[in-house]
Amino acid sequence: MTQARANAWQQLADQPRATLAELFAADPARVDWLATRFDLSDDAEQPAGMLLDWSKTHLTRDLVAGFEALAEASDFVEMRRRLFAGEVVNPTENRAAEHSALRGVGKDTSVEEAAALRQRMGLLVDAIHDGALGDVRHLIHIGIGGSALGPAVAIDALSRDLELVDVHVVANIDGVALEDAFAACDPETTLIAVASKTFTTIETMTNAASALKWLADNGVEDPYGRVIALTAYPEKAVEWGVDETRVLPFAESVGGRYSLWSSIGFPIAVSIGWEEFESMLAGAAAVDRHFRDTDGIDNLPLRAAMADLYYSRLMGCETRAVFAYDQRLALLPSYLQQLEMESNGKSVTAEGEAVDGHTAPITWGGVGTDAQHAVFQLLHQGTHIVPIDFIASIAPGDLQDPAHHRILLMNCFAQGAALMAGKHSDDPARAYPGDRPSATILVDDLDPATLGALIAFHEHRTFCNAVLMGINPFDQFGVELGKEIAKKIEGGAEDFDASTDALLKAAGLG
Ligand code: F6P
Repeated sequence: MTQARANAWQQLADQPRATLAELFAADPARVDWLATRFDLSDDAEQPAGMLLDWSKTHLTRDLVAGFEALAEASDFVEMRRRLFAGEVVNPTENRAAEHSALRGVGKDTSVEEAAALRQRMGLLVDAIHDGALGDVRHLIHIGIGGSALGPAVAIDALSRDLELVDVHVVANIDGVALEDAFAACDPETTLIAVASKTFTTIETMTNAASALKWLADNGVEDPYGRVIALTAYPEKAVEWGVDETRVLPFAESVGGRYSLWSSIGFPIAVSIGWEEFESMLAGAAAVDRHFRDTDGIDNLPLRAAMADLYYSRLMGCETRAVFAYDQRLALLPSYLQQLEMESNGKSVTAEGEAVDGHTAPITWGGVGTDAQHAVFQLLHQGTHIVPIDFIASIAPGDLQDPAHHRILLMNCFAQGAALMAGKHSDDPARAYPGDRPSATILVDDLDPATLGALIAFHEHRTFCNAVLMGINPFDQFGVELGKEIAKKIEGGAEDFDASTDALLKAAGLG
């Protein structure tokens, strides 16, 4: 770590601590500068966007100044410029990270290439909806990690109102996952999307082969004719048997967990329609422009990262939780788990030196109000301090009695207030310590543009965390060793540790 960065961290660590109650008392205007609207439309009649309220965190003007100094010492502005210029920001793999170019914000040539690939995908999606591939009622999307979680979260969030085709996302190699999808689909009217950046991932390729067999076993004459491949290595998909007219490529500079904006998003477009998919991209692009063009505390992803680092680095919080008070966002915590933990779960800096503090906290969460009746006990009275993000929508996603949505929102706000205020009791078992931080993202409505903006906000927040910690968020070598050992086991090796050897034997694999 450079001396400038070490000094910036030290100054942050030396800042006096105050409780949230003290901070609100000392600065009643806190909400004005820490709760900010992000607008996706300038139509005052029909507001579209979100309110991002970070006032219930312990950020102070002095801490913010300290984090701004850290950002300067970390070359934040230069790193952000490189990100959007399509320059190398992933030094261990000598790659750019061009997910924003997929949304139209980035290096000109990359934006143009992405637009051309997107146009091809749009034609295929429209052709499917127009019946060019026959009667298509179902799509089984096979992929794992970033090749599954993005489509899954978007389809689950948006398809209730907009569904054109019934999509099932299958990730796990456990055949049960595939069988669940088979049970819900008619082979005669089903397409298979094989989504793999590398087109080598064993789970995906094995599931894809079994899906083809299922089609053939059920009388589909040309199973390969029902497959669409989504990959950064189109030649591998063609070699595997997919006709090149149904291979939708994307650039190698798009990381797996950042790939839902590329052809990996094909099932989203098939599910909700092309215009809606493009609207999701437009929402993300609005956040790209905000993130690229805004400095300091007004930069919303950077602001969120300041609070993240305050808790993870300075207060020793080992986890952070996300609770969606919206059933449609039930998969968002899992999506963010991969985004943040696969990006920033590192022990070395971008220069390869050991880091000198914790990196990504463990991201976890669930949906409200379910989680209130299960895990909130620990959040209110446990010994761990867990910074929480609440996410909710002003417009309801349901058509039930308005009481449902009113109770949902009231509970969401009540939790944030209770965590902060706490409650005195002479009975220790009934006392709440309070002073527990949370942030709230309140969207006007959960439409495609808003979902796109929400996800892009988290992508950039993850990037800001990485830059301020001095780590590379775009590689993921930590996932490789387990894959190597699994391959060795498959190859018949039996000389592992005594415990593993015994397990293999017990399962009849050794
Ligand atoms: O094993 C981790 C990982 O490489 C993720 O980063 C990626 O999203 C996932 O596997 C799937 O990889 P692919 O898209 O190449 O099949």
